[in-house]
Amino acid sequence: FFRPVADGASTPTSQRRRLTKISVIGAGNVGMAIAQTILTRDLADEIALVDALPDKLRGEMLDLQHAAAFLPRVRLVSDTDLSVTRGSDLAIVTAGARQIPGETRLNLLQRNVALFRKIVPPLAEHSPEALLLIVSNPVDVLTYVAWKLSGFPASRVIGSGTNLDSSRFRFLLAEHLQVNAQDVQAYMVGEHGDSSVAIWSSMSVAGMPVLKSLRESHQSFDEEALEGIRRAVVDSAYEVISLKGYTSWAIGYSVASLAASLLRDQHRIHPVSVLAAGFHGISDGHQVFLSLPARLGRAGVLGVAEMELTEEEARRLRRSAKTLWENCQLLGL
Ligand code: 2OP
Repeated sequence: FFRPVADGASTPTSQRRRLTKISVIGAGNVGMAIAQTILTRDLADEIALVDALPDKLRGEMLDLQHAAAFLPRVRLVSDTDLSVTRGSDLAIVTAGARQIPGETRLNLLQRNVALFRKIVPPLAEHSPEALLLIVSNPVDVLTYVAWKLSGFPASRVIGSGTNLDSSRFRFLLAEHLQVNAQDVQAYMVGEHGDSSVAIWSSMSVAGMPVLKSLRESHQSFDEEALEGIRRAVVDSAYEVISLKGYTSWAIGYSVASLAASLLRDQHRIHPVSVLAAGFHGISDGHQVFLSLPARLGRAGVLGVAEMELTEEEARRLRRSAKTLWENCQLLGL
């Protein structure tokens, strides 16, 4: 169809833009929600999908490829072999058994560690410069497992953590205050799971600290009510799982927002699972991963915010760290 122009010298290699490649390991509901959100946000030139089930994998790839006329041009590849991920800038791991209704994330641990032993070392070998973003549950312990098994520096191993819990938290607060969730600054930190910690002390709306005025205007904003809201955030995942069997859309948007901050070097702050040893009184020897507000960019975790916590918040965070560290130690990695 097209012929080069008369003196059409090809672009020198040095002037060609480096292509961005994202791999998604696990083409289940979460992996595909992430892949499709990444596609619509135009974050990658190439997306590689990996799954153990070849027919399901090919079906998912074709289904996305058939949207080509409506999307930015992206090369979509898939294979059951991890070599298809070679040269990734970002590798997102969603593979794993998922929670059955009522099961805690920590119950999943042993099943998913065995799987990570098969996935992480080859993934790291095929993309030694990649950022690793872990989504499988229990995400904090599995991020530690991925760090150990990859041999990558901790700045390049990140768990999706409480980025999603914080969105659920902001949604509930925004509904209550009748404002847009994007104007609510509020973090959940610690474990992505039952022991997560809501940081009420730094909550603000449009830069205004709101806890004090909420307390003054609503008698119901006592400790019990606050714990009720935190509990509602924790329970909301269980509720979705019991209603539709899994969660997918919110985690898809959450992870795509992390991918954007990382690959586009946005320096945005996200509560994600990072190596937390030494922060908020967590012992230097406890190499536990849990969520703290972290500045994310092309090099991975650029820094962790030294939040001011109340005594109670710090105590809850350390308790969350203790639960997680006990689980990490059982693994003998
Ligand atoms: C979620 O919070 C289950 O970890 C998953 O949606």
